[in-house]
Amino acid sequence: MDKFLINGPCKIKGNVSISGSKNASLPILAATLLFDKPVVIKNLPRVRDINTMLNLLKSLGSKIILSRDKKTAKIINKKNMKTFASYSLVKTMRGSILVLGPLISKYHKSKISLPGGCLIGARPVNYHLTALKKLGMKYELKDGYILAKSKGKLSGTTINFPKISVGATENSIIAACLAKGKTVLKNCAIEPEIKDLTNFLNKAGAKIKWTGRVCKIIGVNSLNETEYSVMADRIEAGTFCVAATLAKGNLQINNLNPKIIGTEIKLLKKVGAKIKTSENKILIKGPEKIKSIKSIKTKEFPGIPTDLQAQLMVLMCKAVGKSSITESIFENRFMHVAELQRLGAKINIKNNTATIEGNTKFIGAELMSSDLRASVALVLAAIVSNGKSYINRIYHLDRGYEKIENKLKKIGVKIKRLK
Ligand code: UD1
Repeated sequence: MDKFLINGPCKIKGNVSISGSKNASLPILAATLLFDKPVVIKNLPRVRDINTMLNLLKSLGSKIILSRDKKTAKIINKKNMKTFASYSLVKTMRGSILVLGPLISKYHKSKISLPGGCLIGARPVNYHLTALKKLGMKYELKDGYILAKSKGKLSGTTINFPKISVGATENSIIAACLAKGKTVLKNCAIEPEIKDLTNFLNKAGAKIKWTGRVCKIIGVNSLNETEYSVMADRIEAGTFCVAATLAKGNLQINNLNPKIIGTEIKLLKKVGAKIKTSENKILIKGPEKIKSIKSIKTKEFPGIPTDLQAQLMVLMCKAVGKSSITESIFENRFMHVAELQRLGAKINIKNNTATIEGNTKFIGAELMSSDLRASVALVLAAIVSNGKSYINRIYHLDRGYEKIENKLKKIGVKIKRLK
């Protein structure tokens, strides 16, 4: 199993380009199942979750032609697609559930494995199922599978999500595109990745309109041949912004519209980072002393993303003074804490709030990755630790960060991938 060796502390300086967004690519790729005509998706990140989604589409019958750099995929669907998504494919990536909406909407049946829990919580799919049921899907759960079907086309209706869910919003929007009549989705997630999905679908002829957290969709008969370039990854950009703030860095971050990380930029300015933004780049300088923030709370967009919580915790470990971070999206997203404690962090957890002492002098150690964002937090901590750190199980990182060691090496991090 690959691991990283990081020899800290490292200085961060230079330029980094942000890759395409994993969390926007996944629903967009799933939505290509709605199409009879070819679709070209550009700016895909070269990460494992995207390979998993492409393999899932292939297993359903899509023909996929990848460009040489593997960032562009031309997807051509067969007349008769399969509708079965096996446990072996779904278990490696929960995002696979996003094929349920398009399969039911277009092919009126699907057998798809239930994703199961993961380290950050139970992560049920009840909101996805309830919403699709309202649109006309019938289903039963049997032997770990969702057996779903509909009598022909789905029918537009009004759905009020009991809780904001990114995945359930995406699945419902995709399904409603080809439904009969009008669908009104209320209390939707409005993450930029969802707007990217609806921009893509509208470009292909879908009729989707947003007003705040309400999404109105008028069903169409079919979607048109389309080319679309996926937005940049705001979590990757946020991670590099935290890295620069943490390591007194001087970094230019390219290829991202800074507006989509406005909340993160505001927070980093508060801790002392000097940040300048222009249309497609961010210049960020880390402070000599990082100021602590009394209380940080993760929230749905436009709040602080839960996918940046672990990275911000590393930042608060190095801040002068006490701080707290409350995780309000997932029930068990503090696995990085025990590993950070092994580097010397003083963190206390009570329910879903972590209290962080600050002023930590991290000393390099051998560490274990647990999930995607926790792993990148360990990388950040190792960058500002004294001495060598080994980070095991980095396959978690490969799921969502494109060639992170190459990008980090280029900006001054002493990092090696050990096989
Ligand atoms: C997506 C992102 C993930 C991010 C998360 C929150 C992708 C591929 N993944 O995950 O990186 O951390 O949004 O921003 O885009 N819930 C239920 N029942 C459901 C659905 C969700 O109880 O049917 C709960 C979840 O357990 C969680 C909360 O709702 O506590 C929010 O989850 P959701 O927004 O659905 O996250 P994902 O779409 O899984």
